[in-house]
Amino acid sequence: MSVNRPAAVIVLAAGEGTRMKSKLPKVLHELNGRSMLGHVLAAAGELDPHHSVVVVGHARDQVRSHLSEVAPEAATAVQEEQNGTGHAVRMAVEDLAAKGTELAGTVVLTCGDTPLLRGSTLSELVAAHEKEGNAVTVLSARVPDPHGYGRIVRDGDGDFTGIVEHADASPEQHAIDEINSGMYAFDGALLSAVVKRLSTDNAKGEEYITDAVALLRGDGNRVGAWIAEDWHEVQGVNNRVQLSEARRVLNDRLLAEHMLAGVTVVDPASTWVDAQVRIGRDAVLEPGTRLRGATVVGEDAVVGPRADLRDTVVGEGAQVRETTADRAEIGPGATVGPYTFLRPGTRLAGRAKAGAFVEIKNSNVGAGSKIPHLTYVGDADIGVGSNIGCSSVFVNYDGVDKHRSVIGDHVRLGSDNTFVAPVHVGDGAYSGAGTVIRDDVPPGALAISEGHRQRNVEGWTRRKRPGTPSAEAADKADRHRADDKQ
Ligand code: UD1
Ligand code: CA
Repeated sequence: MSVNRPAAVIVLAAGEGTRMKSKLPKVLHELNGRSMLGHVLAAAGELDPHHSVVVVGHARDQVRSHLSEVAPEAATAVQEEQNGTGHAVRMAVEDLAAKGTELAGTVVLTCGDTPLLRGSTLSELVAAHEKEGNAVTVLSARVPDPHGYGRIVRDGDGDFTGIVEHADASPEQHAIDEINSGMYAFDGALLSAVVKRLSTDNAKGEEYITDAVALLRGDGNRVGAWIAEDWHEVQGVNNRVQLSEARRVLNDRLLAEHMLAGVTVVDPASTWVDAQVRIGRDAVLEPGTRLRGATVVGEDAVVGPRADLRDTVVGEGAQVRETTADRAEIGPGATVGPYTFLRPGTRLAGRAKAGAFVEIKNSNVGAGSKIPHLTYVGDADIGVGSNIGCSSVFVNYDGVDKHRSVIGDHVRLGSDNTFVAPVHVGDGAYSGAGTVIRDDVPPGALAISEGHRQRNVEGWTRRKRPGTPSAEAADKADRHRADDKQ
């Protein structure tokens, strides 16, 4: 649904959220790859508002630094003390006015702790609000347990007449299951004027935004309540039990979208996906799979069982079993796993293989090349069609610096090889089992290092790595040795 761009979206997020029992402010708690506040701003962002203002109070520095990462376009307004929802809105409106922003058009008001809210629901609210020509339209919902919420009161014709807070409701009103979600569409000009008139003459001694509804109606304006189809969307999260429930609902919703778009999810109960994840048609997610961040899975790929992929790209038709990957690229038709760890900067080209107990970081593995078992590859560039023997190690770290190794095309390396970087193995070269490759291997050569006796170069660390913790440790050991001899 396309609606007029709202003048502003205001998100209330000044509360402490004490029931989370957390160092982290409530609205920054995460589900499906985004904070609660991030989900709300993503939904609000679908309306493309002219201004987004988040009202901050408790832990405002943490909330602000989070916003600078996830929603740099959002401004903040400070509410020093939490004097009520109406007071919070007034802070936002006064902040905008101080910056010269007149609120002409619709203003949408939401809370930072309703992560299940959909952008489409806000669009429908705004559309209904503008169609009816209301001064304010309350987003309401019929819920299984209305306890604690403000109730929507309607007259004999079913027309909305006002909101009564739980504490002030009569026994008959307590039976009303239509609740105030705490989200509204307001006429901006009327909102700007009415927030100045909110009193603190109530049980809590706070400025209530709900009083704005009564004031606007009393002035003879039209007011309305628009019922959300899915009550889950307006559920606020107050503690970690509710957070886990919201995560389950959001995850089920995301998985349903993927399944309806042609993805097979074998076991939705044990499969978790973040909101930004993209998955191609006919891909299969096996049980125990977790896809995080900006992970992309190509068509016909099979991921899992038990895969945990973050910001990773899986090519078409690739197979990724029992794997942990972070910022890796897995090419089309590649096979990974079981028990494989792909660290940042790993790029497997098409049909490449990284097998059991293989760890790779910051390396390129060419098309069709195989690293079948028990191997560490760090800082290497491997050409096409090459095979790294079982139990090999790329010795990329000399204790101070990292060095790269280059392996050419169609190379056949024996088992238990050690590559002491920097080293270059030419195209078509071979190596024997147990070879320690310290020197470059020319194309087509066979490298072997059998039969070398171990040789110790005494005092090497002190001379070559002076001042390092290793040199200090060696010096200390030398002193002990000297003491023992005395
Ligand atoms: C409010 C509504 C109630 C509605 C309910 C929905 C009022 C008077 N009542 O009640 O009708 O059913 O929301 O959840 O508005 N906040 C601030 N600053 C404040 C106070 C609140 O930023 O000074 C924020 C909170 O962080 C929270 C939101 O506003 O995100 C709602 O506040 P809360 O105290 O939960 O409102 P309720 O009293 O539950
Ligand atoms: Ca509440």
